[in-house]
Amino acid sequence: MSDQTPPDPVTRGGGRGLFIAFEGGDGAGKSTQAGLLGAWLTEQGYAVSHTREPGGTTLGRQIRELVLHGEDGSVTPRAEALLFAADRAHHVASLVRPALERGHVVLTDRYLDSSVAYQGAARALGHEEIRDLSLWAVEGLVPDLTVLLDVPAALGRARRREVHDRLEREADSFHDRVRAGFLELAARDPERYVVLDASGAPEELAAAVRDRVSLLVARADLARDVTAEGA
Ligand code: TYD
Repeated sequence: MSDQTPPDPVTRGGGRGLFIAFEGGDGAGKSTQAGLLGAWLTEQGYAVSHTREPGGTTLGRQIRELVLHGEDGSVTPRAEALLFAADRAHHVASLVRPALERGHVVLTDRYLDSSVAYQGAARALGHEEIRDLSLWAVEGLVPDLTVLLDVPAALGRARRREVHDRLEREADSFHDRVRAGFLELAARDPERYVVLDASGAPEELAAAVRDRVSLLVARADLARDVTAEGA
């Protein structure tokens, strides 16, 4: 790094809200856990926005189709990385930041770490390069907390049962590299992660997530009593 290197653009959360990402390999159970946490937060009277990547916006749904549902080989690795980053840029600017500014708890099923694990580690495009690309895309927004549901490739495959997209069709060795990529991210910044063994019972995992999140909601200045507008 030279003296001219600008300061790290990473910022925590944004506005008054709380930004929580669910990450993990295919079949880890992220959507189930995001749903259970969202239901609990809603019961407590918080305004919750549920969203996902890729595909949290209208543009994102078109990008999702392009990047996930083509034939094998239809998207080259760098084009794939750029399409996920484009989805993320639009998602953050048009949905995530506005919801955070309104004081919502934003729960996203996948975020930037998925790009680092799938494109950076598993496709070997480079951890730092892919992280920098996405940080540029989102103007430095990182989650207040990332829930990593750690799943071995074989368990993920068994849980998915039917294969429905291009990434899921990759070999177990690809999914092993994805898993290692996620674990490396969590090890680098442990206070920003809760890492859970995805083979645990859903209710037990949900209780562990709630324990961690309740500390954050107690500290945050969140909107209450607002009808959750969803994503
Ligand atoms: P996901 O929506 O979690 O799958 P589904 O809902 O079909 O179970 O994710 C779709 C796929 O996209 C998944 O295989 C991971 C991959 N992906 C990346 O490779 N990079 C990314 O940046 C993101 C967000 C997802």
